[in-house]
Amino acid sequence: MALFRKNKKSSEQLPQNIPEHIAFIMDGNGRWAKKRALPRKFGHREGAKTFKKIARYCKDIGVKNISFYAFSTENWKRPKDEVDAIIELFREYIVDVRNYLGEGTRMLFLGDKTIFDDDLQKKMNDLEEETKDRREMTMLLAINYGGRDDIVHAAKQLSERVKNGEIEPEDITEDLFGQYLYTLDVPDVDLMIRPSGEERISNFLIWQSAYAEFYFTDILWPDFSPRDLDDAIVEFNSRSRRFGGV
Ligand code: IPE
Ligand code: IPE
Ligand code: MG
Repeated sequence: MALFRKNKKSSEQLPQNIPEHIAFIMDGNGRWAKKRALPRKFGHREGAKTFKKIARYCKDIGVKNISFYAFSTENWKRPKDEVDAIIELFREYIVDVRNYLGEGTRMLFLGDKTIFDDDLQKKMNDLEEETKDRREMTMLLAINYGGRDDIVHAAKQLSERVKNGEIEPEDITEDLFGQYLYTLDVPDVDLMIRPSGEERISNFLIWQSAYAEFYFTDILWPDFSPRDLDDAIVEFNSRSRRFGGV
């Protein structure tokens, strides 16, 4: 399913370039619930449904890599019952992914898994192992993820290799460093989408978004629809990406 949309500058229906890597900061669940006088966890439940809907739509329009920010290294500051509710939803949703993204999807989990219970760690490790050779699409799910932690984690692994005499400090290039990030061989983020009206990156994929285009909208994540994603892609197509050139 190709995406054709009216471009801002003409009335023609133009085919849209689909970004290779779209990242979503799934924000606004709490406010969605608050507006309805519901506990925050109801917002997360609704947000999880949106996650599934948007992931499927990305597959339909041919996005190769999709990243979702589910829980940050800073989100542990929240009340325990809210944290527990988010982690339980995560546990429930990951086993279901293969049923709606099909057989060609690789799963990658971003963040330090060792903080979770054995059952959840096993589920994540098994899914990664089982899907590691698939390349139709890669779904990256960030849980207990922080961009700074990602960089520190990579630096630690590289220092181990230097210490063991496997590489020299001079061998460390941006390219090599990138291979040690949680995102492995996944290309950099092209389009970073943050709903909910906040206009910040909140420690998501900070290395990988060095040249990403940012798209902010006031819509709360549970209300975010495929049509809103189309709007973001049209906006992306109107941007002039220069990567430092002219
Ligand atoms: C995003 O929604 C979900 C997580 C951070 C886990 P929030 O829970 O941050 O929603 P708001 O920002 O309070 O509305
Ligand atoms: C970012 O949202 C983290 C996730 C969506 C998982 P937050 O709601 O935690 O970010 P801040 O606190 O507004 O920066
Ligand atoms: Mg928030």
